[in-house]
Amino acid sequence: MARITTAELANAFIDEQVALVREQVGDKKVLLALSGGVDSSVVAALLIKAIGKQLVCVHVNHGLMRKGESENVIEVFKNRLDANLIYVDATDRFLDKLVDVSDPETKRKIIGNEFVYLFAEEARKLADDVDFLAQGTIYPDIIESKGVKAHHNVGGLPEDLHFGLVEPIKLLYKDEVRVVGRALGLPAEMVDRQPFPGPGLGVRCLGAITRDRLHALREADAILREEFDKSGLASHVWQYFIAVPDMKSVGVRDGKRYEGWPAIIRAVNTTDAMTATIEEIPYSVLNTITARITAEVEGINRVLYDLTPKPVGTIEWE
Ligand code: XMP
Repeated sequence: MARITTAELANAFIDEQVALVREQVGDKKVLLALSGGVDSSVVAALLIKAIGKQLVCVHVNHGLMRKGESENVIEVFKNRLDANLIYVDATDRFLDKLVDVSDPETKRKIIGNEFVYLFAEEARKLADDVDFLAQGTIYPDIIESKGVKAHHNVGGLPEDLHFGLVEPIKLLYKDEVRVVGRALGLPAEMVDRQPFPGPGLGVRCLGAITRDRLHALREADAILREEFDKSGLASHVWQYFIAVPDMKSVGVRDGKRYEGWPAIIRAVNTTDAMTATIEEIPYSVLNTITARITAEVEGINRVLYDLTPKPVGTIEWE
């Protein structure tokens, strides 16, 4: 198959997949876990085009999304594309399970397991009605799962749930998925989204997560993203975010002692995430970000800039 590099090739691919999906599913219903990431969003848009309301999207908000992210999924898919979308706000369930859990791998496991559990619960409610499960599997996922790493998409559903699989983008690479997403009319911020880990802000709110520190992290991260958009950095930096450690330092605000957490800026470039270099953020941008975060975010009293490449640091702090 020719690589999809242009809108014409993307449109031909879309027409072909629309026909194949219609043939595969007939008048049956299809279930999709819609995270709002590039792959699941493109699958959703493609299937809405093919089968409309026969697609049932489930968006689980685990409470660890970035600011505005779940709202954006609802706005694009429910309001603009008129999708059949079930929104599950599971914030309390996830955060309650994570209280006092500080080990990063345990946090990951809890978040991953809870997600599968919740999605299976929704799937079971719909099981009589739904025959297929759509997945945003892409070609590198298939290659990886044949090698050393197990592939965790929404796989892992309990065995009593038997669905046929619909995987319309499984032969595409990430750049091709983005071209198809653009041809389907998805907004740029969704199609060009930087990678975001499955456990979300959970691995950036370092140590045991508390709601107040998670809130501060989310607000600080939103400011960083806003300033990266304004300065043009967003279009070429591979991944950028804030991490907030579980420690406080002494500061002063309004003439009074003010103890707060530091917000740590991380901005890296890489091709494969195995190694990464640091983006040299202009000093004026750093200054603006620092001024805004310390003035606007409750609980933050310092801003730090992480200069560590990978190796020796990993991209995430946990
Ligand atoms: P590290 O921190 O290992 O990150 O240098 C490499 C890339 O992987 C992302 N990452 C994850 N993605 N689940 C994910 O889906 C995870 O648990 C996870 N941990 C790290 C990270 O954001 C970076 O892009």
